[in-house]
Amino acid sequence: MSEEAPRPRRRKRYSGKNPRRFEDKYKEHDPARYGETVAKVIASGKTPAGSHLPIMVAECLNALGLEPGMTGVDATLGYGGHALRILRAISPNGKLIGLDVDPLEMPKTLARLRNTRFGDDCFEAVRSNYAGLAKILTERSLAGVDFIFADLGCSSMQFDDPARGFSFKTAGPLDMRMNPERGQSAADWLAKVSVVKLAAALHEHADEPRAESLAEALAGRHFPDTLAFAHAIREAIRVSDEDVRELTVRRVFQAVRIAVNEEFSALDAFLRTLPECLKPGGRVAILTFHSGEDRRVKQALKAGVRDGLFATTCEGPLTASPEERRLNPRSSAAKLRWAIRA
Ligand SMILES: C[S@@+](CC[C@H](N)C(=O)[O-])C[C@H]1O[C@@H](n2cnc3c(N)ncnc32)[C@H](O)[C@@H]1O
Repeated sequence: MSEEAPRPRRRKRYSGKNPRRFEDKYKEHDPARYGETVAKVIASGKTPAGSHLPIMVAECLNALGLEPGMTGVDATLGYGGHALRILRAISPNGKLIGLDVDPLEMPKTLARLRNTRFGDDCFEAVRSNYAGLAKILTERSLAGVDFIFADLGCSSMQFDDPARGFSFKTAGPLDMRMNPERGQSAADWLAKVSVVKLAAALHEHADEPRAESLAEALAGRHFPDTLAFAHAIREAIRVSDEDVRELTVRRVFQAVRIAVNEEFSALDAFLRTLPECLKPGGRVAILTFHSGEDRRVKQALKAGVRDGLFATTCEGPLTASPEERRLNPRSSAAKLRWAIRA
């Protein structure tokens, strides 16, 4: 038998200068090795494949009032961008619990964070829905924490990977689950959903003005993949303005994603549990990305002040600076709200 090391596999040749497909962007997927390439991608206003640029970091950290030694929760760990900044701000002696439902990205994030100086003594990752936050704290004998942070919705890794089925720009299975081990895929949900239920989802989850006619055209149908679904949406609205068509596709994908992941019921449960999970004087900061989320957060924090559970909340939402919007267009829709426990 030959003792020779196996020859490395040749990298595939691309027809253009650079790889176009998400999975072929091997340099972007390996920022530790190809930092310069990744920096160039970020400077051009794009998010490198397989990563996520944390949004409004300084504003979030400031709203949380972080200090060394604090204990708190990042309810939406994602790529760990905010978590890493939080860990730096609460060290030494701080402790962060990071939650996420995504079984595919979470191990990668854990490995990345384990490569930093923050070990088991100051960071714990828990694969859980943030709706169950109170139970997670009770299991750890924590009566309340100093801060809770949430950055709602999906990560760029989830949106950009065609295999996850969130993108209407690239072909992939019509899945859209943040946790593919639970619930039903978007394709299965659409195949069974009634016209009335789909219309309600389009209204409530995306303020879709053509909710009824779109629901009539789409409910109960089977779509083989993301592109077929996007095509059916464009066919159903019959408007010539391309911007309106693309906005509609975006809104319908958003509404279906929220339904499939039951995002609003999880958010409502999380918002209800917040006051009991915070110490007196503890702070919560939440980033939202569309009106359905922002309305819920705003109303819950205001109701908390009215009921004496929160001492104060922000007057209006904070938004990303023009510079951040230019560098990371995904920050344009972000709204940050905060409150302080009474
Ligand atoms: C916008 S990303 C967070 C990005 C993160 N702040 C960063 O800097 O990398 C949102 C993350 O929250 C997770 N998520 C969404 N809904 C959740 C829920 N109900 N419970 C726990 N995690 C959730 C998603 O899987 C995703 O990874």
